[in-house]
Amino acid sequence: MLKGKKFILGIAGGIAAYKCAQLTRLLVKEGAEVQVIMTKLAKEFITPLTMATLSKRPILVEFFNPENGDWNSHVDSGLWADAMIVAPATANTMGKMANGVADNLLITTYLSARCPVFVAPTMDLDMYQHPSTQRNMQTLLSYGNHLIEPNAGELASGLVGKGRMAEPEEIVGELKNFFQNQDKQELLGKKVLVSAGPTHEKIDPVRFIGNYSSGKMGYAIAEELAERGAEVSLVSGPSQLSVIHKNIKRIDVQSSAEMHDACVKEYEGADAAIMSAAVADYTPEIVEGQKVKRKAPKVSIELKATVDIAATLGATKTKNQLLVGFALETQNAEENARKKLEKKNLDFIVLNSLEDAGAGFNSDTNKITIIDKDNKTQNFPLKSKVEVAKDIVNELLTRINGVAP
Ligand code: CTP
Repeated sequence: MLKGKKFILGIAGGIAAYKCAQLTRLLVKEGAEVQVIMTKLAKEFITPLTMATLSKRPILVEFFNPENGDWNSHVDSGLWADAMIVAPATANTMGKMANGVADNLLITTYLSARCPVFVAPTMDLDMYQHPSTQRNMQTLLSYGNHLIEPNAGELASGLVGKGRMAEPEEIVGELKNFFQNQDKQELLGKKVLVSAGPTHEKIDPVRFIGNYSSGKMGYAIAEELAERGAEVSLVSGPSQLSVIHKNIKRIDVQSSAEMHDACVKEYEGADAAIMSAAVADYTPEIVEGQKVKRKAPKVSIELKATVDIAATLGATKTKNQLLVGFALETQNAEENARKKLEKKNLDFIVLNSLEDAGAGFNSDTNKITIIDKDNKTQNFPLKSKVEVAKDIVNELLTRINGVAP
């Protein structure tokens, strides 16, 4: 998978730099080429001789060779590579990457690189959790960089928490996954709408009716679609999550009415829609203009039904469009899911039952059953939402290509 691929490995000054020896060895063993760029401080943690020997190339540190003025072109390196890996990515280096502080060769190369960039952070747990580090990481994600999350465990400081750089094997695994998906690109040229997250139905200026949906499932689906080449419109209710892939256009909405309008607009000209949002079924009849005061011992709020977005799209769906819905059930799961499939004119429905441990809202895992309009039922085991997203996109793919499942 990585044979012949060219990597720039940007090593910053952190204790986890020692892991770069093994990382380089693994990449070279896979048949990849590795050009190492080190910051000055990184040389204190692992020697240039070690890295040059393992990568079979002279390492780069300075903008030019002070002996003969030979220029180390960051532009050439940036264009040469199929991917850049910044590992360990220290708080300092991530801050510079996020803000364009181009004071060393690693950063100038990063700023010139047109290839995908993978960032493997490492630092002490408090530094990692600091709002500035978190903000910088969000910024890097918003640039389309890929984050290889650190692991939790004992840190060099002796403290225990999140901040250990991912192991070399894990980094190589992420790279393989990326190139495997990139090489696939089966959804190139396809446009897909994804709805995700909860909706907030306003009661007054400071209160709303919401639900526990985190958006994790919908965001994972959007990422998977984008990784496979689709152009994705992600209509998202309020969510803490961020979008990573550059192929995803995120449209933020609050209420079910806003989500309805955005979805109707984005479904026009789309090849498919996957409706994973947990949309409120009812919304306050009257939104109070002022904060409701505490007075009476009991109050009631009159609610009116919202428009069913999936059913609206189902009613206007053309023969070239696909529509996928979700069903979250607490009882008679399959029977209720089948009814929804029919009522909303879906091509297939993804059922997650709250009766299953580890499935549903806010969890990182999900256990699904896919039921299609011909009543074919497939049960999947408990998996991470990222893996579940792959199963759902695979199912969509068999139909998008007109292949009977
Ligand atoms: N859905 C939608 N618009 C709504 C309600 C639901 O688009 N106003 C979509 C969801 O995104 C999901 C599917 O319809 O894909 C089923 O949602 P769910 O809440 O399980 O079903 P409801 O139709 O709301 O039925 P009920 O709440 O009675 O189970």
